[in-house]
Amino acid sequence: MDPILDGLNPAQRQAVTSSDPILQVLAPPGSGKTKTLTARVAYLLSHHGYLPQDVICCTFTIKASREMRERLSKLVGERVQSRLILGTFHSICRRYLVKYGYLIGLRKGFGIADSDDSRGILRVCQVLLLQCAAALLML
Ligand SMILES: Nc1ncnc2c1ncn2[C@@H]1O[C@H](COP(=O)(O)OP(=O)(O)OP(=O)(O)O)[C@@H](O)[C@H]1O
Ligand SMILES: [Mg+2]
Repeated sequence: MDPILDGLNPAQRQAVTSSDPILQVLAPPGSGKTKTLTARVAYLLSHHGYLPQDVICCTFTIKASREMRERLSKLVGERVQSRLILGTFHSICRRYLVKYGYLIGLRKGFGIADSDDSRGILRVCQVLLLQCAAALLML
C-alpha cells in the first residue's frame, strides 16, 4: 500500500488518486479535507510527475496556509514543501504580480491599496468626475 494513502478512507483515497484535472472536495468541518488535499499534493508529486514549483496550494486564511505548510512538510519533507507555491490567494496573487506585472504595465514596486486607500482613491475619482461634469456644463 502506498504510504500516502495510509489512513485515508475510500472517499478520500478516490479524491487523492483521481486523474480528473478538476476536482471539488466538499465535506463538513473536521472531516479530513486538509488531510485529503495534502495527500493529493504528495500524490501528484510522486505519481504524476509534477514539480513542486508547478503545484499551487491556495488558501483563504493565513492560518489555513500555515497548517497546510506544516502538514505538507511532514508529508513531503521541508525541502519539497518550501518549493511549492503555497499561501493565501492574496499572497500568491501578489507574488505573480511582482513577477509578471510588467506584462500588464504594472510598475516595479507597486503598492497594494487597503480599504482606507481604496476609499481615498474613490473619493478622488468622485471629485475628478464632479469637476469634469462642472467643466462640461460651462462649455
Ligand atoms: N480517514 C481518516 N481517518 C482518521 N482520521 C482522519 C481521517 N481523515 C482525517 N482525519 C483526522 O481528522 C482530523 C481533521 O482532519 P482535517 O484537519 O484534515 O479536517 P478538515 O476537514 O480540513 O478540518 P477543518 O474543517 O477544521 O479545516 C485530523 O486530526 C485528521 O488527521
Ligand atoms: Mg482544514
